[in-house]
Amino acid sequence: MSTERLPVFLDVDTGVDDAMALVYLFGSPEAELVGIASTAGNVGVHQVCENNLGLLELCGITDVPVSKGSESPLTAPLRTAEDTHGPQGLGYARLPATSARLTDHDAAQAWIRAAHAHPGTLIGIATGPLTNLALALRAEPALPRLIRRLVIMGGAFDYRGNTTPVAEWNTSVDPESAAEVFAGWADAPSLPIVLGLNVTENIALTPELLSRLADAAGAPSAPMSVHDTRGTASAAGNALIRVLEDAMRFYFEFHHDQGEGYLAHLHDPLAAAVALDPELVACRAAPVDVELTGTLTRGMTIADWSGHWGREPNALIGVEVDPAAFFDRLIDRVGAFAQTLSRR
Ligand code: RIB
Ligand code: CA
Repeated sequence: MSTERLPVFLDVDTGVDDAMALVYLFGSPEAELVGIASTAGNVGVHQVCENNLGLLELCGITDVPVSKGSESPLTAPLRTAEDTHGPQGLGYARLPATSARLTDHDAAQAWIRAAHAHPGTLIGIATGPLTNLALALRAEPALPRLIRRLVIMGGAFDYRGNTTPVAEWNTSVDPESAAEVFAGWADAPSLPIVLGLNVTENIALTPELLSRLADAAGAPSAPMSVHDTRGTASAAGNALIRVLEDAMRFYFEFHHDQGEGYLAHLHDPLAAAVALDPELVACRAAPVDVELTGTLTRGMTIADWSGHWGREPNALIGVEVDPAAFFDRLIDRVGAFAQTLSRR
């Protein structure tokens, strides 16, 4: 692995898996996290800001600016997902209070400032609705030429939705922003890597894998079980592992209640890992667009694999991933990072 540090900008709707994506980046020595944009989605934007600031406080990170995004999507009213991520967005976890403050500028400006500060080298990751990225693109149309690599967690390609029968959450909350971003990146020097549910739902965190993470952090704890009393607090001997376990327990319970098993799909950590190493997924280029007016299909992402539209590809769609390779990397990085905190 090269020792070059990669400037990374992360746009999140922190949420349980967004939090794990953040921690993955904290534990990745090659990542220089230059900013965090807080986007309304899993929970309201103020709560997302609090979660981002609180996670930085917990991890002892003081030099990463956090900005607040739009209170609502471009045109649709905001919908949130406390049923999935918990009332504050991090399941049963509670974060420390912090005196850290948000930037004076908003999330769209934060995208633009980061791109101008790292022209042609910035790696952008979006793991929530694309509201603030779309607003940034409206204000700075050169963004696709300033950003070296854009990875988006969103959509579902030839695969069912998780929010409607055909729409994935991030795209469903703000379909207009996704359509604008896909259109805006059509002529970019490098097409965005788009990771939909069809690939991210292969990344299923289980209690056994979460227990492996606790072991790697030097804070062993017994694997959780669907038979545990709901909301049982983590007793791990490491503050970050306790937060991750308490957050993931809520997410496990949600997936179980949905009939998907006592597990948690790590959509956003996969996006973070791929942003640092695109070789982790196999992709296929295709023209992509978003349904905006369908009564039953609004928010659906469509890939035109066969050229019906006569358009050039505007996205690299993730189609295959090796979960074991991803989890080895997640456990190594987050486990080692958590250990550094226990020595504070
Ligand atoms: O559909 C999964 C996506 O929606 C993830 O990013 C999750 O955090 C939610 O934002
Ligand atoms: Ca998210």
